[in-house]
Formats: sequence, structure tokens, C-alpha cells
Amino acid sequence: MRVVNIGSLNIDYVYEMPHFVQPGETLSSRSLRVNCGGKGLNQSIAAAKAGLEVYHAGCIGEEGVFLKEKLAAAGVRTDCIRQVADKTGHAIIQVDPSGQNNIILYSGANHALTEEDVDRVLARFDRGDMVLLQNETSCVDYIVRRAWELGMRTALNAAPSGENLQQVPLEKLEWLLVNEVEGAYLAGTTDPREILRRLGARCPDTTIVLTLGGDGSMAARGGETAQVPAMRVHAVDTTAAGDTFTGYFLRRAAEGGSLEDCLRLATAASALAVTRPGAADSIPAYDEVQAFLQA
Ligand code: RIB
Repeated sequence: MRVVNIGSLNIDYVYEMPHFVQPGETLSSRSLRVNCGGKGLNQSIAAAKAGLEVYHAGCIGEEGVFLKEKLAAAGVRTDCIRQVADKTGHAIIQVDPSGQNNIILYSGANHALTEEDVDRVLARFDRGDMVLLQNETSCVDYIVRRAWELGMRTALNAAPSGENLQQVPLEKLEWLLVNEVEGAYLAGTTDPREILRRLGARCPDTTIVLTLGGDGSMAARGGETAQVPAMRVHAVDTTAAGDTFTGYFLRRAAEGGSLEDCLRLATAASALAVTRPGAADSIPAYDEVQAFLQA
């Protein structure tokens, strides 16, 4: 099974801050790093490091060619990435001393993706291949519909949440991954069990995965449920923790692992990721994750 991730590619400008900037405040950062990122790019790298055969599709501007090179270096196939006239998507990320972040996104070329691009990309794949997507590109609802019509297995990481998600036929997904914010937005409640119950009722054939940061993660599929606590680590930067989780969860899910197995592998991978700075650069290799799980 091949995985095609029709996803975002961003240049991340990461500012290390003494605290998050407050309204009306001007504050100097302690450092600036320019990294490869984007939920799409990060998830492609995570899935490839986890052992899946990954193809990334999406759009970049001319200054984003190094993002393509980063993907290729991680073993991701990049010939479905189109260079466009727009500026490459970027993110302005503040990281505070506890490792928490907040992010301003500029979509740029990520929103140059067209339905024609999607059709051209999907034509290269087969029934039973996996389509992975996030909510940082255009055409999210179209991708889900077309993938379903083509008999492909579709995983949506519904991050970041936004009004367009109301148009997405979530019941056509095989996997829906949300954090507590996206889950609350889609389910209309902040109670984790109720989020799983409501999304499960709306999407009876979908595996629903809910990540809860320091409170671990939960998943439900039909009558089966699983819950795994977070692993205690010293966090320096939580950026791409959710992306790492998604890539590793799908690796185990693709080989038919139980919900608990999928959550355990993904939890270990994302715990390692938060101990390192950066987005794509923080994603661990499969062997490291296995060793960490067995330690
Ligand atoms: O999930 C982390 C990512 O979110 C960052 O790499 C940034 O680009 C934003 O898309």
C-alpha cells in the first residue's frame, strides 16, 4: 500500500520567547530558527520514518524548493509537488520556555492546489492506497470525496480547525485524527468521551483518534475503544508532536494493529519529538521509537 499525502509545505520561522507576546506588547525573541515545516510535510516525514511508502503532493513557491529536498532526504517521493507563482506557505511560531507554542499561518502556495491537481495526483494511485490530508491546503472536501469514489483509504488530520471542515464529508474517512480543540469544534463538546461518542455516531465506519496533550490519547472504532497515557518527558518544543503522532499511528494502523498498539507507538514517537527543537527535524526514526518503547 502506498500513501499519498496531499498536504501543506511551510517555511517555519521559530522564535524562542521568554513568554508569548501579549496584546500591545513588543518583545524581543531569544533566537530565530528557519525550519522546514507544515503539517503536511511533517506528516509525510513521520510516516516515511515510520516505514510507510510515502508520496507528497502539494504546492510551493520558488523559495520553497528546499522543502522538497528535505522530503526527498527523508525518503518521501516528491514528483507530485508543483511549483507555482505564489509565495511558499509559512508559519510564525513562538515557543515559550515550557516548550509550548503558538502559530500564525500564511497559506500562500498551499492554497494554490486545484481540483485538477488533485485529480492528476490521485490518477497515479490505486484502489486501496491511502490518502492522507490535513486542513492546511485548499480542496480538502474535494479530496475526501474523490478518494472515496476511487476506493482509497483516507486519513484526515483535521488540523487546524476551521469553518471549511463543515463541508468535509467526515463519514467517508477511514481515520479521523483530532486534538482537543479540533475535536471540540467538530463535536460541539469539550468532554473527551463525548467527542469520541458524537464523532463515532456521525461516522460509524471511521476510526476516531483524539489526542489530549499531557492527558494522553484515545481512539474508538465501532464498539472498540482504547486509551493510552502520555509518556513523561522533558519537553523543549511541542511543534509537530501531533504530526509525528499521525504518521506513526497510521503506520501501525495500515498493518492492522489494534487501536491500543497504534496509540502506543504514536505516543512514544511524539514523546520523543517534543524533546527536540523544530518541526520536521524533531521527528524520530522508527528504531529509536522502538528502543524508547522497550526501555
Ligand atoms: O504542526 C506543526 C506545523 O504547523 C508547523 O510546522 C507549522 O508549519 C504549522 O503548519
